[in-house]
Amino acid sequence: MTVIRPVLHHVTMRTSRLDEMIAFYGKVIGARVMFRDKFAAWTTNDEANHRVAFLAVPGLHDDPEKINHNNMHHSAFEFSSFDDLMSSYKRISDEGLQPAFCLDHGLTVSIYYRDPEENFVELQSDCFGDWKKSSDWIATSPDFAANPIGTFFDPMKVYQAHKSGVDFGTLHKDMREGKYLPAEIPNIGLPG
Ligand SMILES: [Fe+2]
Repeated sequence: MTVIRPVLHHVTMRTSRLDEMIAFYGKVIGARVMFRDKFAAWTTNDEANHRVAFLAVPGLHDDPEKINHNNMHHSAFEFSSFDDLMSSYKRISDEGLQPAFCLDHGLTVSIYYRDPEENFVELQSDCFGDWKKSSDWIATSPDFAANPIGTFFDPMKVYQAHKSGVDFGTLHKDMREGKYLPAEIPNIGLPG
């Protein structure tokens, strides 16, 4: 049987911090509230009726062992250009929020933020500017197979290099080679 493939539409998270989550997703991805009440909210950052929703019923509580338990690690949102990723990093930084960690994955440059419930949100741009090419690369490149997580980078150093005119090809190569490593290697929300 042919599988009629549906399109990914939204994510819905449990939270006991509804206001904080709405503010966070507003800041990071420009999500606006479409509807909310006391115990839930539906937000979107495009033409869809909702993309990120929250259920905030009584009885929910934090999981101090969250990074050791099976659950979702992150959601991801893509910019159409590295320039948009960099300018958004700067805007969010100016609004007082710093990334949790940043990785050049080879196929994307990715900046991860930790939301108020300790879920990660990845902001990315495609290194190839072309899903066909990056799909070929993830499937066939020995470089990805050798290092599928990627190389950490310091976002402010990369932002400043980009702003000073260093071209993306050079930046990408140097990030992959670890020339923009952060002062400390961060935990990426996994055990160990
Ligand atoms: Fe991702």
